Amino acid sequence: MLATPGGIMCRIKEHQGGNVMKELVDKSLPDLSLPLKSLFTGYLLVIGLGLLMAGVQIMLTHGMADGKFGLSVDDIVYSYHGNHDGENASKLEAKLNGSMKENAPPEARLALVKWARSGAPESEWETTIKPLVMEHCDACHANMPGLSNIAEKEVMMKMVAVDHGVSITSLTRVSHIHLFGIAFIFFFVGWIFTFASGYSAMAKSILIATPFAFLLVDILSWWLTKFEPGFAWLVIIGGFGYSLASTIMIFTSLYQMWITPLLAQKG
Ligand code: HEC
Repeated sequence: MLATPGGIMCRIKEHQGGNVMKELVDKSLPDLSLPLKSLFTGYLLVIGLGLLMAGVQIMLTHGMADGKFGLSVDDIVYSYHGNHDGENASKLEAKLNGSMKENAPPEARLALVKWARSGAPESEWETTIKPLVMEHCDACHANMPGLSNIAEKEVMMKMVAVDHGVSITSLTRVSHIHLFGIAFIFFFVGWIFTFASGYSAMAKSILIATPFAFLLVDILSWWLTKFEPGFAWLVIIGGFGYSLASTIMIFTSLYQMWITPLLAQKG
């Protein structure tokens, strides 16, 4: 087999390839030139801080969506899917099942809830809904200062509004900003990490590819959660996955540029 021309060509290519690989492997993080180390370090520190801030920001915005501190699956559902199926989707229904429960007989409550759930059609306002409100609710709601006057249609419409979560428009916008922007971050973090020593080519490749894969999972899971709340956990896994992989690469790169040479000097 080796005697064929093709076989010989292969051998030659392998040989040359081997030399190039050797040169690249020789240039590992610990013995990069000082200017390159300074460039890489500045970038990694700023990116690391950025990732940290992104985490804090997620905790403060999405994290509080369900009213409790800390990120949970519920927060993700409220942020992306909203709260529009099941019980108490509208404020009217929530109140009628809660603090307003005693103020109307069951039939009236049922009629109001049905109306809210069927999307509050205006055609029923004058005929059925307003009379019910006038009869059971108006005594307080029209007269007590500071209470919303729900006998007015505009006020009532706010009480039956349901939360549909993030809009398609803003999801599209955030998705493309995220894909472009974060791909850049991962590209340079991964590129710096290609100079790391002590990892097999396979291990390096997997670590470098992981954040990109999880980024796609993350964005995809936003869209899935928008339509189907069961996918909320995928959002957390996606975000956690790429944070972990990039944290490993950032710390390894910084360690090998600055600590490894020091240890080698001492030893
Ligand atoms: C006895 C007086 C009283 C009656 C009768 C009454 N409410 Fe209320 N309602 C209140 C008070 C007080 C609040 C504010 C405290 C709260 O939210 O529980 C309120 C709040 C509400 C809210 C929330 C308003 C907001 O701006 O957040 C809704 C919705 C509501 N009531 C619906 C109704 C409906 C529908 C009826 C009739 C079936 C009704 N209420 C009858 C006293 C009343």
